[in-house]
Amino acid sequence: MKTLKIMLGWLVAGLLLIQFIRIDVPPAPKAKPGDEIQAPPKVTAILKRSCYDCHSNHTKWPWYSHVAPASYEVNMHVKEGRQWLNFSIWNQYDEAKKQKLYRSLVKAIDWKMPPPDYMWIHKNARLSPEDRKMIKAWAQSHIRSTE
Ligand code: HEC
Repeated sequence: MKTLKIMLGWLVAGLLLIQFIRIDVPPAPKAKPGDEIQAPPKVTAILKRSCYDCHSNHTKWPWYSHVAPASYEVNMHVKEGRQWLNFSIWNQYDEAKKQKLYRSLVKAIDWKMPPPDYMWIHKNARLSPEDRKMIKAWAQSHIRSTE
């Protein structure tokens, strides 16, 4: 019993201590309303529902995003997600970057996005096969052939 109490004490102390270690997300980049991506309403709805938490300035921060160690995972996702692709500043990207992103969108939507651990918690972010098809067709329609 005593050992258990000591172990619990260390665990609580450890959890309190790691609250001081933080991964900070840089401030969201400045965006004008015209910078937001323009897409058909059905596509925009899917992007907002399943991608915007990590790929836009409109992140909805859950309560556990303020509590370590969960905060590490959430903050890393948002930090890196925005660096790769931020739909809120889409029109600040030049054409070459947009083309690159449309291409990686087509690939990412098949398997790696949204990340599985995110969908595990955010069940409404899950995509049906039709949702994926729609995103893919939309992205493909913007890809210019390089021939
Ligand atoms: C939980 C956060 C999160 C969500 C939600 C999310 N992403 Fe991502 N996404 C990331 C992170 C982090 C990266 C960069 C690291 C990587 O590639 O895994 C990324 C990378 C990408 C890339 C670049 C991949 C590459 O390798 O070129 C694309 C495209 C992308 N995401 C599309 C999407 C789309 C579309 C959605 C919604 C259907 C989405 N993401 C939802 C976190 C997220």
